[in-house]
Amino acid sequence: RWRAGGGACCILSFCSRRTAAMSTLLIQQPQYAWLKELGLKEDNEGVYNGTWGGKGEVCLPCSLPSATCATLEEYNETVIKAKEAWQIWADIPAPKRGEIVRQIGDALRKKIKLLGHLESLEMGKILVEGVGEVQEYVDICDYAVGLSRIIGGPILPSERPGHALLEQWNPVGLVGIITAFNFPVAVYGWNNALALICGNVCLWKGAPTTSLTSVAVTKIVAQVLEGNSLPGAICSLTCGGADIGNAMAKDERVDLLSFTGSTSVGKQVALKVQERFGRQLLELGGNNAILVFEDADLNLVTPSVLFAAVGTAGQRCTTARRLFLHESIHDEIVAKLAKAYAQVCIGDPCESGTLCGPLHTKQAVEMFLSAVEQAKCEGGTVVYGGKVIDRAGNFVEPTIMTGLAHDSPIVHKETFAPILYIIKFKSEEEAFAWNNEVKQGLSSSVFTKDLGRIFRWLGPKGSDCGVVNVNIPTSGAEIGGAFGGEKHTGGGRESGSDSWKHYMRRSTW
Ligand SMILES: *[C@@H]1O[C@H](CO)[C@@H](O)[C@H](O)[C@H]1NC(C)=O
Ligand SMILES: *[C@@H]1O[C@H](CO)[C@@H](O)[C@H](O)[C@H]1NC(C)=O
Repeated sequence: RWRAGGGACCILSFCSRRTAAMSTLLIQQPQYAWLKELGLKEDNEGVYNGTWGGKGEVCLPCSLPSATCATLEEYNETVIKAKEAWQIWADIPAPKRGEIVRQIGDALRKKIKLLGHLESLEMGKILVEGVGEVQEYVDICDYAVGLSRIIGGPILPSERPGHALLEQWNPVGLVGIITAFNFPVAVYGWNNALALICGNVCLWKGAPTTSLTSVAVTKIVAQVLEGNSLPGAICSLTCGGADIGNAMAKDERVDLLSFTGSTSVGKQVALKVQERFGRQLLELGGNNAILVFEDADLNLVTPSVLFAAVGTAGQRCTTARRLFLHESIHDEIVAKLAKAYAQVCIGDPCESGTLCGPLHTKQAVEMFLSAVEQAKCEGGTVVYGGKVIDRAGNFVEPTIMTGLAHDSPIVHKETFAPILYIIKFKSEEEAFAWNNEVKQGLSSSVFTKDLGRIFRWLGPKGSDCGVVNVNIPTSGAEIGGAFGGEKHTGGGRESGSDSWKHYMRRSTW
């Protein structure tokens, strides 16, 4: 069903202002009864340190039943409880910790549909993406179970007779995890599963606008910990806004701070952590490009670009925002894309068949509009979209713009909305250089059949990003590989490969 608009939106259209009556209404409506299966109520507490609390404000005054935030005192208490819990957790052998993580993965499996649905409802991403995100948490749990039996350091040749030289990896202690609204489950999962098998305890602060998802996930994890007679504070939660984020960044007791979010907020966090010589893992913004050469399989290009630019309504850090087309195929691809964009079903993210849901907030809609205006001022032409959709909720038209210079200010800016800037190029040198000329360095893709070009793209003078794709789109990542990016993307690596080393400190014997 390819159509625009239509369909009663789940929550986002109801959400103009939260009132007590409204939240009562929602959770008591039969179609939302499943929220209770996730342990959610009309009013939810957003702090967990072995017991539930949360005396702060309601995190999201405009929504479903939201959760309360932590006060700074509660944050402090939670850190104390988490540190106490570490005393117990660090003594548990790594494979046994892996067994707990296996149980967490299994518990998530049982709730995968419900959690995915909650994510759709709260974040606005389409249902398959919501469920897919929970699947990533499940998968990284499996991955971490295996890791719990194989991580370790080498025995090195000592230069001194009769001596041994070894490396041992020990947990850092307390890992603070600050996640963003757009991936409220997977990013926590990547950090949580690895941090746990390494012997760390976790303290999570999710985005205020997705606090219910954080609460529901924490309830599932807590049940596993408590079922094994372990302290719940091993996986603590303090919902909250910037005040809790600041407290975590400045806090010497937070041994590693893993932050996912915008480059501008990430920079503030990074400076605070660096000030105390703390450890950090940063996953910040991207400004990802797809390069299409004249020899590419053009049938692959349209669906790939569409998926990368419109998926999650352009609110992925790996969303394709720049499309560089060889001049010989430019007009053909632009026409094909405009046609494909016109068929995208925009609407209720919880309805199957919808490909593009709303933006997350009203502010995002404003940013979308001002980016389109700025792009026009800088010489851009709207080929498709460019407008806000006249219906309840934060819906905008996925947008294609052409005619901009590769280095115009708006093209170098990450706008978290579905806007694609299409730019013509003449040569490989030019296209590679344009890929690399932005401040961000997260994901990149080339479409070509030329093997020499592919290896140049992957090599030292090719893409400078952390994720370098060939003949597949920029978005989407496999948990088995290290995920993250260079330059203003922050340099962190999460998930697979040897990312576990971030969560440990190395000692040389
Ligand atoms: C955290 O732990 C303390 C000490 O056990 C307890 O008094 C407090 O209620 C807990 N806070 C929350 C928000 O659960
Ligand atoms: C945290 O709480 C402890 C115990 O209540 C107190 O001694 C300490 O001063 C508090 N620290 C901060 C930063 O609030």
